Amino acid sequence: MPNTSIDSLQHEERRFPPSPKFRADAVATASLYDEASADRLGFWSAQARELLHWSTDFTKDLDWSNAPFATWFEDGELNVAYNCLDRHVLAGNGDRIALHWEGEPGDSRDISYSELTAEVKRAANLLISLGIGKGDRVAVYLPMVPEAVIAMLAVARIGAVHSVIFGGFSADSIRSRVDDAEAKLVITADGGWRKGKVSALKPAVDAALAKPGDHTVQNVLVVKRGNNEVDWIDGRDLWWHEAIAAAESEHEAQGFAAETPLFILYTSGTTGKPKGILHTSGGYLTQVAFTHKNVFDLHPESDVYWCTADVGWITGHSYVVYGPLANGATQVLYEGTPDAPHGGRWWEIIQKYGVTIFYTAPTAIRSFMKLGRQIPDDFDLSSLRLLGSVGEPINPEAWVWYRDVIGAGTTPIVDTWWQTETGAIMVSALPGVTTLKPGSAQAALPGISIDVLDDSGNGVPPGGGGLLVVTEPWPAMLRGIWGDPERFVETYWSKFTTGPLYFAGDGARLDEDGDIWLLGRVDDVMNVSGHRLSTAEIESALVSHPIVAESAVVGAADEATGQAVVAFVILRSEHVDTYTTDDASALLRRHVTEQIGAIARPREVFIVAELPKTRSGKIMRRLLQDVAEGRDIGDTTTLADTSVMQIISDRLK
Ligand code: PRX
Repeated sequence: MPNTSIDSLQHEERRFPPSPKFRADAVATASLYDEASADRLGFWSAQARELLHWSTDFTKDLDWSNAPFATWFEDGELNVAYNCLDRHVLAGNGDRIALHWEGEPGDSRDISYSELTAEVKRAANLLISLGIGKGDRVAVYLPMVPEAVIAMLAVARIGAVHSVIFGGFSADSIRSRVDDAEAKLVITADGGWRKGKVSALKPAVDAALAKPGDHTVQNVLVVKRGNNEVDWIDGRDLWWHEAIAAAESEHEAQGFAAETPLFILYTSGTTGKPKGILHTSGGYLTQVAFTHKNVFDLHPESDVYWCTADVGWITGHSYVVYGPLANGATQVLYEGTPDAPHGGRWWEIIQKYGVTIFYTAPTAIRSFMKLGRQIPDDFDLSSLRLLGSVGEPINPEAWVWYRDVIGAGTTPIVDTWWQTETGAIMVSALPGVTTLKPGSAQAALPGISIDVLDDSGNGVPPGGGGLLVVTEPWPAMLRGIWGDPERFVETYWSKFTTGPLYFAGDGARLDEDGDIWLLGRVDDVMNVSGHRLSTAEIESALVSHPIVAESAVVGAADEATGQAVVAFVILRSEHVDTYTTDDASALLRRHVTEQIGAIARPREVFIVAELPKTRSGKIMRRLLQDVAEGRDIGDTTTLADTSVMQIISDRLK
């Protein structure tokens, strides 16, 4: 399993300069930690009641008797969409802007809470008219348009379950997700704007559903955005704008049990098959609302918040849709890529809307660093008062640039550690309460219990490194892997026998103050531009090509993307002379794009004659990583054939 030893992971603590301070008048108070440590479950119950509207109050908090299967607030009832919409209107905030939507070409729409509520009500009625009801799964494959948010909330409003599929995924990836969740409906668009042009989306859905074998999809709802030509299947396909105009406008939100499934989100694990991470309603919404309010120090009446994540990822679910809307925040939603039509697009948007809280990933910061500070320097970014980082450990260079160039040297940065599985932020500094320690994700939030353990499950002393674990259940925790309870138990809860302890798959170090420094994954999961990819998934895509006999994939350090996909491939003997290595490599890069999506396209595919294996046949990825990162090759004594690494590195020179 682990292919990276803790010792080999570098931490960069000493290279970070001092940090600016948080404002003292932040919303969070030190008493949150006190309350949570005195009575963790009482604390979360109080948060659930304070932050959310329950149509039926709960009497139970956590039920852990069937661990690791948890329930939170089980006998309570709530409607997630009502919490994100109607209640803000009823509280007199209907005119507040919920979404400042900015299209990539420069078109924009401001949507108030009243308008968003009205749209979601119509969309809920439309879904019902298409036969969607409680528990049904709806796949969403949309660009970053308001309809993505509307669709997710409409699904939630009627107690159905969404499975958002990132717009960069291929037809094959769509089909496997649609099949796994047995989705009845797909909501997509003709296309969306990316990098200065329309990128078609519906053709991928059409191709996915045209693949051999039965599927469960009855309708495809199509948002018109790209105005590109699309094929049409009468009876199956419907235009969103036509169908929604015909839908009833009134819809009363009904309460659903707190454990009603809210969404499935597929993420990469250590095997070839993506896992459908399941999140439910009451506990999830409690923790995303709590963290969004306190970690980002949200003042909903005055802040303009912008999280740059796509709704196709967990950050887009928790910190674009559910957290901010549950808190009645005003936020920016941007359709396009950061560099279209010009490299200053993001900074222009911050200036235009007066963004005060900005949440993005280190990989984006690094790509702006390359373009130079003269671009952001041309914009007025003085409205910013809090910056956030997520997705990977932030390196000192990116941190300094973020603080100095974007944050004028004085804006604090919160580094937030969490995962698709955790649903919400788990480890972070807390404005107004903690000090800031640059580069460290710092401490478990109130109500969250984190530890760093060695391989045998013993806590490491200050200064020590080990594996990050969550030691107590938390409200937004995943409730399982869709359709695969065994994999859920095995992947997350079986690493330590002293449990139930949740094994996150990350290495971490505790410093002398007990603060947490994330060190990266310790399993075969890569982090490319803050997105999770599994080595096994890309390997199985490669070997599905007829010219490939065997493959090994590693995540190699990459200046721009954090890690990059590097593949080593052995061709079938009959093809060795058919293709030049350049042709084979280009062909296979294309093949991975078709199989999974452009995010998984290898930066390099090396055609090799052998792969380094142990005597038991396990590929030693660590050695391949040395090659991919241009290092001297480490210890090869456990290889079955010690000459193989020499052959590989000679070949690549
Ligand atoms: O390795 C950790 C890294 O991203 C992984 C989770 O990826 P995903 O489920 O796609 O969610 C990303 C957005 C929450 C983690 O296992 N990671 C995430 N945030 C940080 C991080 N590594 C270091 N520091 C972070 N702040």
